[in-house]
Parts: sequence; C-alpha cells; structure tokens
Amino acid sequence: MGQFDGKVVLVTGAASGIGRASVRLFAGEGAQVVAADIDLDGAEQTAELVRAAGGDALAVPVDVADSAAVAEMVARTVETYGRLDVAHNNAGIMGAGADVADMDDDVWQRGIDVMLSGVFYCMKHEIPHLEAAGGGAIVNTSSGAGLIGFPGQANYVAAKHGVIGLTRSVALEVIGKGIRVNAICPGTARSRMVDEWMQGSAEAEAEIAGLHPIGRIAEPEEIAQAAVWLASPAASFVVGVALPVDGGYTVP
Ligand code: NAI
Repeated sequence: MGQFDGKVVLVTGAASGIGRASVRLFAGEGAQVVAADIDLDGAEQTAELVRAAGGDALAVPVDVADSAAVAEMVARTVETYGRLDVAHNNAGIMGAGADVADMDDDVWQRGIDVMLSGVFYCMKHEIPHLEAAGGGAIVNTSSGAGLIGFPGQANYVAAKHGVIGLTRSVALEVIGKGIRVNAICPGTARSRMVDEWMQGSAEAEAEIAGLHPIGRIAEPEEIAQAAVWLASPAASFVVGVALPVDGGYTVP
C-alpha cells in the first residue's frame, strides 16, 4: 500500500534530475503519474522506468512557458486518469549567466517565462481540477536562489524569488478549497543542469560541495523526497512554506 494509492500526480521537468526522481517516488507510493517535459524523449524514458518498476505513468510534452500548452497538458492528464490530486511544478533552466548590465533581454525573459510564468500557468490550469477532486496539493520547485542572491544569475534568482511570492499568495487563495501550496528550495543537486554547469570537473564539484555545510551536493532523490512529503497527508498542516532542502546552504 502506498500513500498515493488512487491519486493522480502531475510533474513538470520530469525528463531528468529532480523531476524524474519525483515521478519515480510518487509512482512508488502508488500514484498514477504524468511526466511532462519539453524533452518528450526524456519524459518517455522516465515513464518507462516507472512502468518497468510495475507502476503507471504517461509522458506528455509541454513548454511550461506557453499557457495553452500547459492547459493541454493538464487536460490530457485529466482525460487519461480522470482526475488531478497533486502537482509538482518543477521545470527549470539554468541558461548562460551574465551580470545584469550584460544580460540579453531574451535571456532575462526566457528565465522569467519558464520559471516564473511557467509556475503561474501551471497553477492556474491545475487548481480547478484539484478543487474538483475535493482538494489536493501543489509543490513548486524554487531554489536556494529563491532565498538569497547570486551574482551573474539575476534572471534565475528573480524567477525563483518570484516562485516563493507566487506560492505564498496562491496558498492563501486556495487553502479554503482544501488545496495546500508549498515550495521547496533545493541546494545543489546532481542533475542534467548541474552536470552541464560542473562539466565533469571533480574540482568544480568539490568547490560547490564546499559551499554546503553538509559537505557534498545532493542526489536528486533527496530533493524529491521533500516534494513528496509536502504533497502527502503527513504534511497536512504545512501551508505556504518555502522549505530549504539544501544541506545547510542558506543557513549561515
Ligand atoms: P534538469 O535540467 O535535470 O531538469 C530540468 C527539466 O526541466 C529538464 O528535463 C528540462 O527539459 C525541463 N524543462 C526546461 N525547460 C522547460 C520548459 N520550458 N517546459 C517544460 N520542461 C522544461 O535540472 P534539475 O536540477 O532537476 O531542475 C529541476 C528544478 O530544480 C528546476 O526548476 C531547477 O531550477 C530547480 N533547482 C535545481 C537545483 C539543482 O542544484 N539541481 C538547485 C535549485 C533548484
């Protein structure tokens, strides 16, 4: 028996990293899971991993920066599985960093479109179905960069700070409907984004690990576990938080 038996979960950014780990954990707890990503091949691989483990998952393509595409993703979820109980809005990009004075407008805009507007579009289209299901939970992936600044990543940092504001506001809007909305703020976790950033360099990994008081970076499952917990009945009194899951990164 899993704690998400009979529940339908939608995860964006599900082709790799934290999103893939989230899909696998929710499915392992009995949920039927939609794995949505702009990378459909990767999302299919995630769904296949779930099926190989005896679970039920469907891969769906989406660009979360496109409101109509997000509406279509949610519609396919409900058409396929009949309901929506939990959403983990997790898609994100790192992109080329630059100081603000040198940042191209389109680099700024894409970061905001994917990671801030994307979370807005997801919640907007998910909430009516969560309400129809009699309540549910949303977990948005912010970042340690949602809590503190980073030079050279202002688009990412601004979007992730925005996700926390969005999470808090929407949490208050929908808690009366039995929908809990929370955010996670990961520290550095091994993923495609972070692998590209570290470029296979052990020195880079050691340097990044050293920024985390725990002395290492996370495995994506360690982040996804927090999302699963926030969405679970065990977190029934947790509303509107931005939970650091960061090995102490934002503590000092
Ligand atoms: P990842 O690169 O492995 O996964 C991100 C996924 O999002 C990819 O599969 C990508 O195809 C998908 N994606 C990108 N743009 C999309 C779009 N427009 N529509 C739909 N899907 C899209 O990276 P990771 O680390 O698993 O990232 C997941 C989330 O965690 C992101 O929001 C990221 O900002 C956040 N995060 C990650 C940290 C880390 O150290 N790995 C730290 C803090 C936050």
